[in-house]
Amino acid sequence: MFPHVFFALLSVELFCIASAILFALFLPVGFHLLTLAAAVYLTVAAWRNHDASPGSAGLPPGSLSIARSIAALPDRRYYQEQTRRHGPVFKMAQFHRRVICVTGIERSHKLFRDHASSIGPCPLPFSSEISGGFLRYMNDETYERYGPAFRRALSGPIALSAVNTTRSTTKRQLTLMATDCGKSSEGRGVRPAAYVAEIVHDALAAALFGSTPDSDSYNEMKTLFSVMDEQDLNRRLSRNTKSALADLRSLVEKEVERLQSRSDHGEPACALTELHRTDPQMPDAVCIDNLIFIFKFSTANVPGLLHWILQLLGENPDWIGRIRQERKEATDSRKNDIVNRVIMETLRLAQSEYLYRTIKSDFEFEGFRFPRGWLIRHCVWESHRDPRIFENAERFDPDRHLLEDFPRQEYSPFGCPHHGCNGVVLTYMIARTFIEELAGYDWIASGDSKPERDFRHWSHWRPGAGFGVILRPVQSESAESAESPRHAERS
Ligand code: HEM
Repeated sequence: MFPHVFFALLSVELFCIASAILFALFLPVGFHLLTLAAAVYLTVAAWRNHDASPGSAGLPPGSLSIARSIAALPDRRYYQEQTRRHGPVFKMAQFHRRVICVTGIERSHKLFRDHASSIGPCPLPFSSEISGGFLRYMNDETYERYGPAFRRALSGPIALSAVNTTRSTTKRQLTLMATDCGKSSEGRGVRPAAYVAEIVHDALAAALFGSTPDSDSYNEMKTLFSVMDEQDLNRRLSRNTKSALADLRSLVEKEVERLQSRSDHGEPACALTELHRTDPQMPDAVCIDNLIFIFKFSTANVPGLLHWILQLLGENPDWIGRIRQERKEATDSRKNDIVNRVIMETLRLAQSEYLYRTIKSDFEFEGFRFPRGWLIRHCVWESHRDPRIFENAERFDPDRHLLEDFPRQEYSPFGCPHHGCNGVVLTYMIARTFIEELAGYDWIASGDSKPERDFRHWSHWRPGAGFGVILRPVQSESAESAESPRHAERS
């Protein structure tokens, strides 16, 4: 999964072996000293990681070894396996950082609630470089002002006013995808990443900034965001990102002026107009910076969800037929709606992974010591696979949400109440539009879809780079049975 890392480690290993041989041949004393140093290092490391070492009293079970830390990276089941082995509270290392993992949504919510004063956010470095800090990591005083304003600004009305843009881009991108599939060699299909990225970009640019493909600002904004795309948010902002950020700030400020000068003329709602409606002093520099980074985060999250929808429906084609059939029978109930159920189940099985927090002061929970400076990982993906809550938990079964109303203590893809996701309505709007338009096509998954991730513990899993789809518009009934790709594959 990580060929670059593999070859780097292999080179280091070969270098060590070659050095050892050279020392042994030409400087035997050096060889003995190195052996001694390695033996001391390994003994100290083993002792430090041992449950009986000083300082480890009262800690949860689990290994802090670096080897285990690396083994966790390509293993999607690592945390599930550790939960099975040690119970729902266990410890691990993520390279140099020490982490206590907690499985079970009710348990984690209780932990966050009961020890709120000892737990803080885990800010990524970029947050200190933007006005007021990023919403997720803001201090309580600033959050008190901006948290509720953003919650209101990102609610229903903006999703509603971005529907048309979302639908027309979705139609355009699916048509393009089907055309490109026709051109691809030997039915290998196309990789969906670029197409779903366009859909999400347009939907969110309209919802957050009121920028649609026919707006003057659209192309410039898109170019600047493509520079921001290069930025790894685990690192400090690069010079290019800072320059794009400065240009984006002034572009959005101009957009604010334009929207405010036209506010009497029924301008469609977007987060900028809604923030202003909530508080006439907004959107200020804090709002603008936050919107830019919310855009950056969510244009990474939401395409992931659309990707998983393509893969899970591709693997469970009966559901596509059911979507077409059941959508004919209109319903207003959220969970009775098959499209919503498909989204809920995709979030459960694929898109929700974890929450991280940092421990600000020592405390005890369920008999274990949680030491200051360590991280807490709330294992959401693993909790969503608890067989005591979800029957046949590994199965893609949207109907489980019809039969049972899972409370927030059992099913929680959008975080816990404090700092929970503000983009739920927008996410559902985009995913729903995507599935509705997708229902006009037949598709099969092609290539290797084995999930993969980057060489980082916080990297999200995604369908493999080889994952592709072969997409064709649904034909009439008779033509469909003769020509659909699924039929072709079966025959
Ligand atoms: C697949 C889609 C998405 C998923 C699974 C998701 C999930 C989450 C989760 C789990 C949190 C809580 C993080 C924590 O407590 O550490 C969160 C926070 C947040 N999300 Fe989302 N999100 C998605 C899409 C979006 C979208 C589309 C937006 C807005 C355009 C958005 C805006 C936010 C904001 C602003 C926060 C921080 C809220 C606060 O601290 O008050 N999210 N999201």
